[in-house]
Amino acid sequence: MKLKDKILLLFKREENAISGSALAKECGVSRNAIWLAIQELRKDGYKIISKKNVGYTLQTNFASITESEIRQNFENDSHLFSFILLDTVDSTNTYMKQNAHMLQTWTVVLAEEQTAGRGRLHRTFSSPKYAGVYMSILLRPQIALQLLPRITVCAAVAICRGIEKLTTQKPQIKWVNDIFLAGKKVAGILTESVMQVEHEILDFVVVGIGINFHKKAIDENLQHIVTALFDSEDFKSDLRAKFIAYFLEEFYLAMENLQANTFFNAYKDRLFILGQIVQVSLASTSFLAKVKDINENYNLLVVLENGQEKLLTAGEVSIQPSLCTCVANKFKVRY
Ligand code: BTN
Repeated sequence: MKLKDKILLLFKREENAISGSALAKECGVSRNAIWLAIQELRKDGYKIISKKNVGYTLQTNFASITESEIRQNFENDSHLFSFILLDTVDSTNTYMKQNAHMLQTWTVVLAEEQTAGRGRLHRTFSSPKYAGVYMSILLRPQIALQLLPRITVCAAVAICRGIEKLTTQKPQIKWVNDIFLAGKKVAGILTESVMQVEHEILDFVVVGIGINFHKKAIDENLQHIVTALFDSEDFKSDLRAKFIAYFLEEFYLAMENLQANTFFNAYKDRLFILGQIVQVSLASTSFLAKVKDINENYNLLVVLENGQEKLLTAGEVSIQPSLCTCVANKFKVRY
C-alpha cells in the first residue's frame, strides 16, 4: 500500500488531529516522508489542515477515491478487475469506448467528475465532483445477441444490492433500468455495445453506472424527481469506494449467471411499477397503461385503457401520481 493510502486510513480511523511524528511512527517512515505524502494528498484534492503543536486533520468529506480503498472493500479476490481512476473526463463511457481496444475485460473506469455525462435517450447526466459514482465497466460477453438487454438488468440488481449493503434504504427499480429511492431516481445505467453489424459479432459492451451520493449531484431543476443516497451530514467520500466494491462483486456474480437468469426474482421483487398506472412513451407515441406483469425476458405486460393487453419490449414508462389517481377507477373497471 502506498504511504499516502496508509495515511488516509489513519485519518479515517482517528477523529482527532494526528501529529506528524505519530503518523511517522505508525507508518514506519520519517516525518519528512509524511510531509511529502501529505503534499501529494493535497494535490489529489484532500483538504488537510495542519496546526502547529497539534497535527494534521483531514477536513473535508469530499475526497478522491483511491484504488486501494476500493480493493480493501472486496470480500473476494479483486484481481480480476483493473481500475483506471480519472479526476475529470467528459464521459467515462466515451473514454472506455475510445480506449477499449487496449483495455482488458473487466476494466473499470471511474471519474471524480464528468463534464459531459450521458444518459439514455441522449439525455445529459449531471456529474459534479465527488458527489456521485460515475463509472464504466468493459465487458466482452460471449452470449447470444438477444440476451444483451440482460446485462443492464444484472447491473440494476447489483446496484440495488450494493445500496442495500451500504445503507438501510430500500432501492426499487423502474423498468427497465432506473433505480429509485422513495419515489425519486437515484441512479441510472447506460449500456452501450459496439459490434460488427455485417457479421453480427459483438466487439465489446460498456456498462455505465451513475449514482447520486450527495445532493450536490442533483440538478436544481430536477430536485422534485431526483434524489441522492445521503444527506450532506451523513455523506463521506469513502462510502463511494465501499459501494463500488459491493456493486462490482454483485455485478460479476450476476453476469456469471446471465444465461441462467437467476436474478429474475431479485429484479421483479424490486420493480415498484407492478400494478401501477404508467405513461408509456414508445417511439413517437405515448399512452396510459396499467402494468400487469413482467416476463422472464424482461418484457413488460401492460393493459391498455380499452382492456387490450400489450407486451412492451422497449420504451420508457413514467409515473405521475396525480394522473394515476384520476384515471385509476377507469382501469379498475376494465382490468
Ligand atoms: C440514465 O439515467 O439515463 C443513465 C445514466 C448513466 C450515467 C453514467 S455515469 C457513468 C457513465 N458515463 C456516462 O457518460 N454515462 C454513464
